[in-house]
Amino acid sequence: MTGADTARIAGQVDRCPSKALSYFRNEENVHPEDVQAESIVEPIPNGPLLVYGNLRVKAAHAHETQKNKVTAFCRCGASSNKPYCDGSHVKTGFWG
Ligand code: FES
Repeated sequence: MTGADTARIAGQVDRCPSKALSYFRNEENVHPEDVQAESIVEPIPNGPLLVYGNLRVKAAHAHETQKNKVTAFCRCGASSNKPYCDGSHVKTGFWG
């Protein structure tokens, strides 16, 4: 584990066949086994990234917003309401 980054360590633990290994993230204080909801992520062609499920969205200034059901995140970079989609991708002709 020395020298490996967090993602690599977590990936190795996730692949543990006996599930004898586990981890939790100090910065979030959330144990993976405590997460009960499952989310679905759907990139919309030429549009936003839709995330279905209950979310807590943390902004850079530590403000946190609870989102439920479906949240549309901007993929085009033109939204005036980042990180959320405001429909600007249509005006800009976003392709991707
Ligand atoms: S994807 Fe809709 S505004 Fe960027």
